[in-house]
Formats: sequence, C-alpha cells, structure tokens
Amino acid sequence: MITLSVIKADIGGYVGHSASHPDILDKAKDEMAKAKKAGLLVDFHVTACGDDLQLIMTHKRGVDNRRIHKLAWDTFVAGTELARQLKLYGAGQDLLSDAFSGNVKGMGPGVAEMTIEERTSEPIIIFMADKTSAGSWNLPLYKMFADPFNTAGLVIAEGLHAGFAFEVHDVKEHLKITFNAPEEIYDMLMFIGAPGRYCVKSVCHRGTGNIGAVSSTQRLSLIAGRYVGKDDPVCIVRCQGEFPAVGEVLEPFAFPQIVEGWMRGSHHGPLMPVSVPQSTPTRFDGPPRVTALGFQLAEGQLVGPRDMFDDPSFDEARRQANVEAEYLRRHGPFEPHRLPLEEMEYTTMAHVMKKLEGRFERLKA
Ligand code: F6R
Ligand code: MG
Ligand code: MG
Repeated sequence: MITLSVIKADIGGYVGHSASHPDILDKAKDEMAKAKKAGLLVDFHVTACGDDLQLIMTHKRGVDNRRIHKLAWDTFVAGTELARQLKLYGAGQDLLSDAFSGNVKGMGPGVAEMTIEERTSEPIIIFMADKTSAGSWNLPLYKMFADPFNTAGLVIAEGLHAGFAFEVHDVKEHLKITFNAPEEIYDMLMFIGAPGRYCVKSVCHRGTGNIGAVSSTQRLSLIAGRYVGKDDPVCIVRCQGEFPAVGEVLEPFAFPQIVEGWMRGSHHGPLMPVSVPQSTPTRFDGPPRVTALGFQLAEGQLVGPRDMFDDPSFDEARRQANVEAEYLRRHGPFEPHRLPLEEMEYTTMAHVMKKLEGRFERLKA
C-alpha cells in the first residue's frame, strides 16, 4: 500500500498574491529531500500554483499521519521564515496556529490524501487551484465520474458502467453523506450544485470500492472565523482502467466554469486551466487558475510530472475564460461579479451601517 499526500499552503506571495518565490520552492525541496533520505518519504515533488506552495508526497504511513503532517507543517514554517526575510507578501498567511498539534487539518493548510494498492500501471493527476474555494471541484468531479456526455467510459467501458459513489461534505454543519451515481444524481446535484456549502470529498468505484478521487475541503474562513485568503484547493484523481481515462479526467476543464474567489475572495470569475508557469494570476488578482500535473506511480516513485494543461487543446478554454473575465469585470462592484453580501470575504458593511445609523427611515406601507 502506498499513500499519496498533497498538502499545500500560501506562506507568502511574490509579488503581492500573484506567485511563489523560487527560493521558497528550493527551501521546500531541501526539506523534502532530507525526509526522503531519512526514509520518511518514498518520493516527493514540490511545485506552486499561484501563491500556494504544493507538497506532493508518497509514503507508507497512511493518511492523517502525524509525522507526515508535521513534516509538511515544519516545511511551511521554514518557508515562512525565509518569506519573512524576503518580506514576501502575506508571509505565513495560511498558518493559522502557532504550534503543531498532530494534524495540519484545521490549522490552515489544505490536505488531500489517499492510500492505494498501486495497480500494474497507476496514472494519477493532481489538480491545484488558486484564487478559488474548495467547492470548485464539484462540477469537474461530477462530469468525470457521473456525466456520460463527458466520460464516454461510463457508457461504453465495462469497468465504469456500474457507476461511482460520491462522499459529499456539508462544510458548514460538519456532516457527510454518500450518494450513488447514477441512481441518485438528481438528489446529489441538489447539494453539490451549491458548492459554497457542499463539497465532494471523495469518489469511489462502486464495484471494487477503490478510491478514485479525493479533494481538500477545508474552508479557511470557517476555520479562522475571518478572512485569511481563499482556500485554493487541491484534488487527486486516479485514471484509466476502472476509472475515467486521462482525457476524460481533463475534459471538464475545457469549460471555464464560474467559481467564487478572484479579487479579495469576493468575486465570481472563470476557472482558467493553465500550465504551471502560467499559474500567476495577475489580472484583478486572477482570473482563478487551475493546473494539472500528471504522474505515473512506480512503487511509490512519482514518475513525472507532465504539465497536462500545457497543450494547445486548452487554448480555446483560456480564450473563453478571458472573454468571461472581461464580461464579468464590466459589472464592477455589482452582483453577480461581486459575491452576494453574506459570501464576500471582505466587507465594509458593518462600518457603513454604523455610520448611517439613524439615517434609514421606515417606508410607509
Ligand atoms: C484573493 C487574494 C487577493 C487578495 C488581495 C488583497 O484570494 O488573495 O485577491 O485578497 O490582493 O490582499 P490583501 O488584503 O492581503 O492586501
Ligand atoms: Mg496569498
Ligand atoms: Mg493562493
């Protein structure tokens, strides 16, 4: 059995919130290399999506392992020290606690982990997003694992025909429920179509029970009780065989869906699929980005990565995303570009209301 852990945090941006500094990535690589040498990790890959540092790790210790989480936490702390020296923007932004308490969950970093029996060939894709929130995986995961207009295999491949089970989390009430696709898709869509509250946590094959996908579902603002940056989620997807093919897993991102996030975490904008070097949100701090790194696992070694959106077949999605971005931007401070009042991560409403106290008069019936 091998465990794949993706743990990420924004520990400082370069410049502003637009990207990560190469020295921070080098520092993280050093820390990961030491852990690999010491036998804690089987393998690792360090990358960034926008201003988020991404630690992709394989090991034999299972999910929620204290030592692996501590390694990630210590790496973020070491990176934060460097970020402070370089005076990077928002150094240590996502580290919401001063001391590690056994698991990084609930402490700020985003986590997606799965333990698997490695198949004869194990293609996996790791999706990483910047300037958006955890529910942004709902639509693509639904398309990959439940929509035959996206995934031909659901109709024509024996291994996928029985469907998949979706574990959905209510991130506000801390509840979970599992829906079986295809029979329960209408019930499930009632929930996952509201991605601010309901997030797809994982997807399993109904015949074998094997896990096919897992996402990070932490909502930073709910953890901190205030705005500290968008969640900028990650998602791991296994491909081929009993799971959707690589092309079926990437296909949903050809549609630049509108997600929450962008400037000050308070706007709707298109999710633009980009290569890793292009994950540098600069227009109005956006538009939100998603990257995809593909690996073949070989006894836990991460063979790769291939930068999956670095392909002209996603040029049209990027062009469309720019058209959507321009259209939404023209709304300026109006909805639906600006998020509804209760969803905005920044607001001056309380102050404005206080200032105008006494100026509101009751309308006559
Ligand atoms: C959105 C994001 C940025 C910042 C914006 C203001 O997730 O990270 O759009 O919200 O640049 O940043 P502060 O408040 O740090 O000046
Ligand atoms: Mg940031
Ligand atoms: Mg970010």
